[in-house]
Amino acid sequence: MTGEAINYRLADLAADRPALRRLFVDEHELSSYAEDVLDSPDLVAWVAHAGQEIVAAILTRPMRSDDGVELGGIDELLVARRYQGQKIGRRLVEFAEAHYLAAGAAGMQLTVTEDNARALRLYESMGYAVAQSRLRMRKQFGER
Ligand SMILES: CC(C)(COP(=O)(O)OP(=O)(O)OC[C@H]1O[C@@H](n2cnc3c(N)ncnc32)[C@H](O)[C@@H]1OP(=O)(O)O)[C@@H](O)C(=O)NCCC(=O)NCCS
Repeated sequence: MTGEAINYRLADLAADRPALRRLFVDEHELSSYAEDVLDSPDLVAWVAHAGQEIVAAILTRPMRSDDGVELGGIDELLVARRYQGQKIGRRLVEFAEAHYLAAGAAGMQLTVTEDNARALRLYESMGYAVAQSRLRMRKQFGER
């Protein structure tokens, strides 16, 4: 816990993309999926600042559910390790929810892995419930 003042704002994607990418690299969270999201033209993101430094971000995009309902999609939520446990993640989800509610979306959707206890606790405490769980199947080719 750092006790520093945290400020929140909508990301300015033209200016903030490099700093956002750096946050994901520094926190070892720059998956190829995160990279695609950062490059997406429909990205809507919010950032949390400690001074000049971006210490957390939520990356979202409007999406449509399988049954045609408009939703806010949370693609990535990341709080730098040093700043976790200060409700920054919760605040960022609240910003995204307020935006998509005002835009007329019916709700929010995200994907989280079963072993991510911290994220699961956060989302469950905010009213999210499991809508679907998937199995990843793989076949390994033998030596040729
Ligand atoms: C998941 C993550 C975004 C949470 O952000 P955070 O700012 O630390 O979370 P908050 O301080 O807002 O905590 C919100 C809730 O999360 C849960 N939580 C927070 N710290 C926790 C911990 N150490 N253990 C278990 N649950 C915890 C609690 O339910 C907490 O609510 P409470 O304080 O009212 O009990 C952050 O841990 C993170 O960036 N993790 C790595 C990336 C990631 O997994 N992102 C989610 C992908 S979907």
